[in-house]
Amino acid sequence: MIYRPIVLDKEIVFSKKKFIVSKTDTKGNILFVNKNFSEISGYSEKELMGMPHNVSRHPDMPRAIFFLIWNSLKMGREVSGVIKNLAKSGEYYWVIADFSIKRNHQGEIESFTSFRRSAPNQVIEEIEILYETMLDIEKKHGIKGSLSYLESFLEEKGVSYDEFLEELIRPKGIIAILLSSFKSIFS
Ligand SMILES: Cc1cc2nc3c(=O)[nH]c(=O)nc-3n(C[C@H](O)[C@H](O)[C@H](O)COP(=O)(O)O)c2cc1C
Repeated sequence: MIYRPIVLDKEIVFSKKKFIVSKTDTKGNILFVNKNFSEISGYSEKELMGMPHNVSRHPDMPRAIFFLIWNSLKMGREVSGVIKNLAKSGEYYWVIADFSIKRNHQGEIESFTSFRRSAPNQVIEEIEILYETMLDIEKKHGIKGSLSYLESFLEEKGVSYDEFLEELIRPKGIIAILLSSFKSIFS
């Protein structure tokens, strides 16, 4: 049984130089977490092993975002996302997550890894408005409704979902350098 904390309106802020890593099987069950994951989420490594990754799911997150992430991963396309996560304490922490795919020698997908960094305030402010609207629509019209809202939101901006994210979350300066060397350690 997954532990479901009482949700608190309290943010966990963590250093932008702290990267959070987790690896899952193809169904999203956790195979590995780094120390920062345990420290920030409040769950021990032992508690997390084998658990479905929706242990981190925050009720403020629209389902449509996970739908898009999983769709990309299943098609073998690496993807990113801005995610509000739920810690064991019920507090939340915002991350920018880059998802990567590992294949076996036969070329079949073996596992997924997510590299997360803290989301800057301007990213949170922009995405929060979008997610609030999507969640609202989702409650009334389901995931199809929120996906079609996202489509019209992007159409108005004249960008694809990937382009929208790229512009919003591209790592800059020292963070880009640190992140890329960090990823090479875990890949
Ligand atoms: C490698 C990997 C990392 C993930 N990390 C998170 C995460 O940090 N937070 C989260 O809510 N979901 C994460 N997910 C997505 C979850 O598997 C799940 O789809 C999501 O929490 C929605 O849960 P639900 O499908 O039960 O609604 C991750 C999935 C993968 C494959």
